Amino acid sequence: MFRSPMDMTDVTVKGTVLKKPYLNYLDKFYEFPVRDGDVWICGIPKSGTTWAQEMVWMIMNNLDTEGAKADIHSRVPFVEKTWLTPVNEELPEYVRDSMGFIKKEYEKGPVCLKTHLPWVLLPRDIQENLKKPKIIYVLRDPKDAMLSLYHFIKILTGFKETMEEFCEGYMQNKQCYLPYWSHVLGFWNQRNKPNVLILRYEEMIKDLSGIVRKVSHFLERPISDDEVEKLVGHLSFNSMKKNRAVNNEDLIEKARKAQGLEKTETNHMRQGKTGGHKTEMTPELIQKLDKWIEDNTRDTDFVV
Ligand code: A3P
Repeated sequence: MFRSPMDMTDVTVKGTVLKKPYLNYLDKFYEFPVRDGDVWICGIPKSGTTWAQEMVWMIMNNLDTEGAKADIHSRVPFVEKTWLTPVNEELPEYVRDSMGFIKKEYEKGPVCLKTHLPWVLLPRDIQENLKKPKIIYVLRDPKDAMLSLYHFIKILTGFKETMEEFCEGYMQNKQCYLPYWSHVLGFWNQRNKPNVLILRYEEMIKDLSGIVRKVSHFLERPISDDEVEKLVGHLSFNSMKKNRAVNNEDLIEKARKAQGLEKTETNHMRQGKTGGHKTEMTPELIQKLDKWIEDNTRDTDFVV
C-alpha cells in the first residue's frame, strides 16, 4: 500500500474534508493578497480543471505554443500542490512553495492559478468582494467526476476498492474537498457576479469552440476565428493526451514506480468523454447516485 511521508489523516475545515497538512497553510491562504485581473480556476477534482487551465493560459498568453511547452503547473500554479509535498529543495518552486511562486509571478503581470478549495476557504479578498479576480468554476456531472477520480486513484496507487465502495465513500465525503454539494453550490451561488463564470465539462465536449469564445470574452481577450480553430486543435483530447506539459505522465509514473506498479499507458487524460458512468456503473449504483443528486438539489435551482 502506498504510504505518503506526510500525515494524510482527514480533517474537516468549514465543513470540507481536507488532508491534515493543509492546516499549515489555510490561514496564510486566507490572507493571500488577491488582485483584480488575475484568473482563478476552481472546481472539484476531475471536473476538467486541467483542460480549463490550458485554455485560459493559452488565451491569456496569445496562444504562445512555445511557452506552453512548460509544465502546466509552472504556468498556472495549483495552489495546494505544495501542501502535500514534503519540502525538498531540489523541486521546482511551483511545487515546493506554490504561494511564494505565485507572489513572484505577480511582478510579471496577471497570473492564472488553480485551486480545488471550496468558496468558503478562498482568501478573504475574494469572499468579502474586496478584489474581483476573474473566477472560472468548472462543473461536471458528479457521476462522471466520481468515475474519473476512481480511475485516477486506481492508476496512481493501484487501490482495490470496487466502484460501489468508492462511490459510497464519495457520497459519505470520504475524499478530499468533499462534500460535492457544498462545493458546487458554494460557487453556483456566486454565478451572477460579473467576475464569475461557470463552465460545464459537458458543454466543453459538445462545443469547444463556443466555450473558447465565451472564455475569451469573459477574460476580455478577443480571439480571431483562426485562433479559435488553432486553440480547439491544441485543446482536443488527443492532443492533450500526448502533451507531456499537461498529461501528468511523469507524476503518474513516479507514483506507480514508488509502489512497485508497472508503467501504464493511461495518463491524466484518461477517456475524455461524457456519460462514461453509463457503461461502467451498474443500474443499481446509478439509481443510488441519481437519488443522492435529487436529494441534494431538490431545494435548489441547480441542475446537473
Ligand atoms: P476522464 O478521467 O473522465 O477522462 P481534472 O483536470 O479536473 O482532474 O479533470 C480530469 C478529467 O478531465 C479527465 O476525465 C480528463 O480526461 C478530462 N480532460 C482533460 N482534458 C481533456 C480534453 N482535452 N478533452 C476531454 N476531456 C479532458
